[in-house]
Amino acid sequence: MTQDDDKRAAAEAAVAEVQPDMLVGLGTGSTVRFAIEALGRRVAEGLRVTAVATSVDSATCAAALGIVVRDFAEVARVDLTIDGADEIDDRLWAIKGAGGAMLREKIVAAASTRMVVIADASKRVAAIGAAKLPIEVLPFARGFVIDRLAMLDARVTVRDGVTDNGNLVLDALFADFSDPRSLAMALDATPGVLGHGLFLDEVDATYVADGGIVTRLERVEVSV
Ligand code: A5P
Repeated sequence: MTQDDDKRAAAEAAVAEVQPDMLVGLGTGSTVRFAIEALGRRVAEGLRVTAVATSVDSATCAAALGIVVRDFAEVARVDLTIDGADEIDDRLWAIKGAGGAMLREKIVAAASTRMVVIADASKRVAAIGAAKLPIEVLPFARGFVIDRLAMLDARVTVRDGVTDNGNLVLDALFADFSDPRSLAMALDATPGVLGHGLFLDEVDATYVADGGIVTRLERVEVSV
């Protein structure tokens, strides 16, 4: 079993959730690529669905496989979104954005009735925080945001190139990642930060494949 076999197994398990006439959100990345291929096969067999994509890359791939891709700007609600992650833990907290699509991914996740993360076992961690956190920044605000991140005790690198939205990505390593919720709030409150890869409330379930065995983990809502 290779890592790609596990990515494919997790992807196929998630795509099995897709029902006729759903509007499906397509994430971004190498694991999602397997999901798009699996969905393309189901569409070729006659499944009627439409999709929205979180990146130009995913939209192009899906359309090439015969999946009807709608403009997300015309959409308010998505039935099921399937996306990857860089790290995911048992709280279903994730770090996303190695591929630079985290802003669109978070918007599509927020619009989704259900959002599932697919991953091979290398992404599953006891607690998120070892991966660099990608942060999408308005180019105008680069210096200001880097300074604010330094005040949050982060080591920052500026990624080459721009996102599909024409913005910069800063990759931040925080000395202290013990309180991701406060960190997310601080980032959300920083002018010039347009989005970041901390997903704390968005993920409803994960499919993680390890040696060909796929495990599904569902978010448990605790009512008080
Ligand atoms: C895209 O910006 C990311 O959020 C990806 O979903 C994440 O990096 C996982 O990508 P891979 O499946 O390629 O590891």
